[in-house]
Amino acid sequence: MLRTHTCGQLRSEHVEQEITLSGWVHRRRDHGGLIFIDLRDRWGLTQVIFDPDLGADMHKLAGTLRNEYVIQISGRVRHRPEGQDNPNLATGQIEVEAHQLTILNQAKTPPFDINKEVAVDEKLRLQYRYMDLRRERMQRNLILRHNVVRHIRNFLGDEGFIEIETPILFKTTPEGARDYLVPSRVHPGMFYALPQSPQQLKQLLMVAGYDRYFQIARCFRDEDQRGDRQPEFTQLDLEMSFIEREDIMSLIERMMTSIAETYTKTPILQKPFPRITYQEALARFGRDNPDIRFGLELVDISPIVAQTEFKVFAEVVAKGGLIKGINAKGLGEYSRKQIDDLTALVKEFGAKGLAWLKVDANGKAGGSSFAKFLSPAEVEAIIAKCDGQPNDLLLFVADKVDITNESLSRLRLELGERLGLRNNNILAFCWVIDFPYVMWNEDENRWDPSHHLFTAPMAEDIPLLDSDPGKARGQQYDLVLNGYEIAGGSIRIHQRELQEKVFKLIGLEVEEARHRFGHMLEAFEYGTPPHGGMAPGIDRLVMLLAGEPNIREVIAFPKSQNAMDLMAGAPTDVTAQQLKELHIKLDVKK
Ligand code: AMO
Ligand code: AMP
Repeated sequence: MLRTHTCGQLRSEHVEQEITLSGWVHRRRDHGGLIFIDLRDRWGLTQVIFDPDLGADMHKLAGTLRNEYVIQISGRVRHRPEGQDNPNLATGQIEVEAHQLTILNQAKTPPFDINKEVAVDEKLRLQYRYMDLRRERMQRNLILRHNVVRHIRNFLGDEGFIEIETPILFKTTPEGARDYLVPSRVHPGMFYALPQSPQQLKQLLMVAGYDRYFQIARCFRDEDQRGDRQPEFTQLDLEMSFIEREDIMSLIERMMTSIAETYTKTPILQKPFPRITYQEALARFGRDNPDIRFGLELVDISPIVAQTEFKVFAEVVAKGGLIKGINAKGLGEYSRKQIDDLTALVKEFGAKGLAWLKVDANGKAGGSSFAKFLSPAEVEAIIAKCDGQPNDLLLFVADKVDITNESLSRLRLELGERLGLRNNNILAFCWVIDFPYVMWNEDENRWDPSHHLFTAPMAEDIPLLDSDPGKARGQQYDLVLNGYEIAGGSIRIHQRELQEKVFKLIGLEVEEARHRFGHMLEAFEYGTPPHGGMAPGIDRLVMLLAGEPNIREVIAFPKSQNAMDLMAGAPTDVTAQQLKELHIKLDVKK
């Protein structure tokens, strides 16, 4: 037997027992003859003492121990001496007096400290991920993730859902990213596509009558990486039949509340979760995944400056653009350098500049980059509209609608950060609903679905698909938590005719649509129930529950920012023989 207990198990009640523990040397301290070891496994830490009087050889061997050696010890559990209890440790009332020591395996000096929470270069962490995962923080995150997933399985099981696996080798399932392709050896020149989500398959399960399906599903998307994106990630994918938007939203809301209340002490900002329409989200926050933990909402001043002499503003209004501002509360002391930094930020997101105005002690315009070009009445109206109080800094962008919203929403988040308003001690869930059904893609000159191809339009907006597609709303709903989109879903199309109409609207030729999605169209003709579903991103959800800044911290073996596995070194080249079998010739520019 390699152990009788784990390193997190022993308590006062075990005192006087002879036990055996195995684990890693977390830390070693030598104290005038006595050697102390904190022995670690994933259950905890136990203090072990090597006393030269209890075995000179053993004590000598203990002197050779280094951090991360794997050892086995046998010994007697005893109370810690009076006043030496460690209340921070579950095993803190006891220690083990070692009688026997075996070194099971040695370890080289770790590339970074395992026993301290210190900043380590992430590349190094990913390269030695198996060491990184030994750290307490990573253990905590992975155990939380396990608990959340188990909770989801129990919750949905109790609600009558069944878990069904769907294939990874499949056909294109577009969710707005590029596909990962897998060449077929058996069918030369043919490729499987890895699913961007199980979207089509879960709908086909509804056609098959498996009402209330779910799956902890791996999804694959070849897109630009960010802190909250990975090329492969995990969704809780679910689908229900004979339901309306309200049914799904209420189920998800109950599930999220129960997860949050079970695994964090962090209060939920508002219950039931507030609902914001897409238009309102854009107007107030400049984006459809608003962080509603704090104010600093955007203010539209276009009407005030429509007729102004100031060309920067007037021309933007004339061209149908938008001028919005943010009141950076209490930042009236900001220096030119600090304002220049904020200007650089909005420029990153396409803005041409950042106009600013400081409110002086009398509530009037103090310094400003543009007030001199406006009439006093215009300036006063702007200050009033932005609720400018003494010592506030008002910041404005004038540009095309999208650029104004995007750049100011980024500025808002940055200001929220600087003002300490984006704190992790609140969970601010909100629903975003009533999305536009399609959005105009300027580069490709066509309509793109704002969710995915299979989302249903609002029934009353179907005529708009012919007359004014941009005005139609979709039956889509997103769940946002602290500024992150943590789930997306919709009611689906379940009639062939409407599905074909939508394919046409987004520019899919009939032939192409049948080639790619013929199986869906056909299935719709064999008795398809009305259905809908949703997919929370597990990585993002756990990241937020854990208070972590990116999803790599809650994934055991994530890819780096440029989509590489730094530990194993993937992707990698393959042999000529493998390529030949796959009928592939490379055409790579050196
Ligand atoms: P959607 O594309 O909105 O919907 O994805 C659902 C959720 O998955 C998470 N997510 C990601 N997480 C990490 N890395 C990524 N690259 C990534 N992309 C998405 C987000 C997102 O909200 N089939 C539909 C769902 C449905 O309609 O039922 C879908 O995939 O948290
Ligand atoms: P200028 O007349 O170019 O010196 O600009 C006056 C002020 O307006 C400066 O603070 C610029 O940063 C700012 N500005 C210029 N273009 C824009 C714009 N499109 N939106 C907001 N501010 C701008």
